Amino acid sequence: MSDPTSGLPSADQRLDREDITALPPVSRRSFLQGAGVSAIGASILEVGEAATRELANGRGEAIGPGAVAVTLDINGERREVQVDPATTLVELLRDGLGMTGTKIGCDRGACSACTVWVDEEVVASCMTLVLDVRGKKITTIEGLAKGETLHPVQQAFVEHDALQCGFCTPGMVMSCARLVEQNPNCSLEDVRQAISGHLCRCGTYPNIFKATLSAASRMRDV
Ligand code: FES
Ligand code: FES
Repeated sequence: MSDPTSGLPSADQRLDREDITALPPVSRRSFLQGAGVSAIGASILEVGEAATRELANGRGEAIGPGAVAVTLDINGERREVQVDPATTLVELLRDGLGMTGTKIGCDRGACSACTVWVDEEVVASCMTLVLDVRGKKITTIEGLAKGETLHPVQQAFVEHDALQCGFCTPGMVMSCARLVEQNPNCSLEDVRQAISGHLCRCGTYPNIFKATLSAASRMRDV
């Protein structure tokens, strides 16, 4: 209502107008940018759905969102499991298969406690989806020894007292074992490089270096 004495707009009417004029003007450009964001969001959703279908090494089969049947080769054994498509390898190993030798230190690729071998490569199993290792050969710390005979690196870790709490040890052993198998002539610098992504909160690095070089020399002599 206008002020009946002055004929000017009432305080409420002025407030309403001020609120409206306080809003930023909507230009054609900002409108299109906003519309663009919505379109991008929709595209991401579409791409996500398509990726779910197209995952699985480009085979184009439908995957998820429910559990998926997967066959894996773990330590030379064929394992058939049902997993959610978002399951990481370390989650499957520890929670699904009870293989708790592989540790989780950070669960975000920063400590290497979860290191396993996938074919010939060392990988952080917390950063690896189960779906991505189908058809590959997975080796965990449980598969390193041959029966009662420890891998040379495992044996050397014991002999050189290369662990304290042991939490980082399975991951360290997997990386060091990969190194000496690929290069028995490795140098101290090679060992440093091989475990550069591993964190040992107990500070056992000097003994890990000694153990790995000792294992390498043993492998050269075989
Ligand atoms: S637990 Fe995988 S890198 Fe730390
Ligand atoms: S031995 Fe304890 S973290 Fe490495």
